[in-house]
Amino acid sequence: MPTETVYGLAAAATDVAAVTMVYAAKERPSFDPLIVHLAHKDPEVAVEGVAELSGLDTRGRERFVTLTRRFWPGPLTCVLPRHSNIPDLVASGLPTVAVRVPDHPVAQALLAAFGGPVVAPSANRFGRISPTTADHVIAELEGRIPAVLDGGACRVGVESTIVAIAGDGSVRLLRPGGVAREDLISVVGPVEVGAGDAIEAPGQTPEHYAPGTPSVMLPGRIDTVSGWAKWASGPPVGVLRVHGPAEDAHQQLVAAGVPVALVLTLSATADPHEAARNLFAFLRQLDDSAAERLLFEPVDRADGLWAAIMDRLRRASSRGALPAR
Ligand code: TXA
Ligand code: MG
Repeated sequence: MPTETVYGLAAAATDVAAVTMVYAAKERPSFDPLIVHLAHKDPEVAVEGVAELSGLDTRGRERFVTLTRRFWPGPLTCVLPRHSNIPDLVASGLPTVAVRVPDHPVAQALLAAFGGPVVAPSANRFGRISPTTADHVIAELEGRIPAVLDGGACRVGVESTIVAIAGDGSVRLLRPGGVAREDLISVVGPVEVGAGDAIEAPGQTPEHYAPGTPSVMLPGRIDTVSGWAKWASGPPVGVLRVHGPAEDAHQQLVAAGVPVALVLTLSATADPHEAARNLFAFLRQLDDSAAERLLFEPVDRADGLWAAIMDRLRRASSRGALPAR
């Protein structure tokens, strides 16, 4: 099903056989838990029978309600104490469950028609690039799933922000995403970053979102990095720029004797929304091009959606490294 962030592979959250098929289609290890998607209602009503809000103290409950009144429906996932209706498999045995209300008419129609909670991990094979169009889903999962609901290209383009709300009411950011950390802070105060001792984000392996083509993160904008050209000469490269013009980089590479397959710019006007919308489609396009190595420019700011974009690029390039010069 389409959502505003990425396409998800939907199954009944309380049906172990259905959830097992989701793990199998994605080749996802069972230690990586799923997000449960809910229909849009009052947040406390929406999570009934899915999360156990009584496991939170008063402050935690207030924070959950404040955050979700502001950001639901939308790209915010909350990790909460789990209700016994939700099978161990959905949560990989954790005492918690991740929940969100997607902001997409097709997802909402599906949830309303089904009438119960629905798991929906991103509809890609495990570790691969998340899909933002129905065609991407077919490229990932054809033959493994019965159908794709085509809702067009996803509006946000990066996955939901995940926060964990602990029993004592503290809020932690487990995954940067479609809601900026600053916006969370402006609504609920301090938000720590990273998994704490008690809370884990098991699926956050560093090598997520990886294209099949070996990929490296440049230490700076391509026009400020010296030395890489010699290393890059050889098989054709593909370049993902953040906001610098693609033509400039292309000409510069050719002048330096580097064969170029494709250069793409996430947003020529440095618009983070446009950049996020393009991110996964461009990674896929570069992966499918004749490039035998991909070079990514780093994002030079960490506010708004840029934090999520840089997080995905870092993971997508985590296996590659530029040789020492
Ligand atoms: O935007 C999104 O969230 C998309 C769309 C389809 O809704 N879904 C998505 O699902 O990104 P997935 O499965 O690709 O990522 C789910 C992440 C994983 O990193 C997983 O570890 C984390 O959520 N997660 C799920 N349950 C958790 C829990 N109980 N505690 C901590 N992390 C959890
Ligand atoms: Mg995913």
